[in-house]
Amino acid sequence: MNKRVAIVTGGIGGLGTEICKHLARSGRQVVAADLPARTERVAAFREETAEFGDAIVFEPLNVADFQACADLVRHVGETWGPASILVNAAGITRDTSLRKMAPEQWTDVIKVNLEGVFNMCRQVVDGMTAQGFGRIVNISSVNGQTGQFGQTNYSAAKAGMHGFTMALAREVAKKGVTVNSVSPGYCNTAMVQAVPEDIRNQIIANIPVGRLGEPREIARTVDFLAADDAGFITGANIPVNGGYFMDF
Ligand code: CAA
Repeated sequence: MNKRVAIVTGGIGGLGTEICKHLARSGRQVVAADLPARTERVAAFREETAEFGDAIVFEPLNVADFQACADLVRHVGETWGPASILVNAAGITRDTSLRKMAPEQWTDVIKVNLEGVFNMCRQVVDGMTAQGFGRIVNISSVNGQTGQFGQTNYSAAKAGMHGFTMALAREVAKKGVTVNSVSPGYCNTAMVQAVPEDIRNQIIANIPVGRLGEPREIARTVDFLAADDAGFITGANIPVNGGYFMDF
């Protein structure tokens, strides 16, 4: 059987890189799609994933651009075959309290974190239903479940992402396509390291496991949901947060 093709948006980021590696280890052809402007990061990503050879490739993409998403998905289909797995891991923060938030700080986060999910899912969903197989995993956040000071934009996008997940899961359930969210807690990534140290230390003090999560711990969950035999899990949100937020 041909390798299943996986697209990971935000693929060269803190979580995205580990997600790409896990999916490649599970035998997938992985396309890491991310902003090309981060040239140093692109170069570092190529080094970090060199051992995987052509099983992990980088393709430039701005998920906020609908047409660019269409072009990428067509290019992937023509080059490696139709995408069977889509991981929406592209995300940005523009943290500030609402009373100081500029309209662009709201719009930028919604456009990348939420509209980007629409833009990519819209492109892959027909191919997945036609194949009778698909796995979509949306990387949400614990802060979409709890809200976070300074993140009205991000928390709205991440909570919205899970509403999207549940709705799309219903639409494609009979076609062999699952749609799930993973909600990471605070992990050891550049995004979290950018939180001021005193605030970050307060957050870590409230994580029952007593430490930040490691990106590979998120990647393991994504890989699990992307497996062929994970077909009965759909519309779910899997928290991976060290016990930071527990829900029933
Ligand atoms: N809870 C309650 N009060 C808080 C607070 C909090 N968490 N943080 C700040 N405040 C208080 C301050 O003490 C200050 O009080 P005074 O006015 O009385 O001095 C006031 O609120 C500051 O308000 P500002 O309007 O000045 O806040 P700001 O616009 O400067 O924003 C902030 C502050 C940048 C948001 C800062 O609080 C911060 O960085 N918080 C952390 C945000 C965070 O956790 N982001 C997560 C990024 S990682 C990620 O998102 C990945 C993931 O999915 C987990």
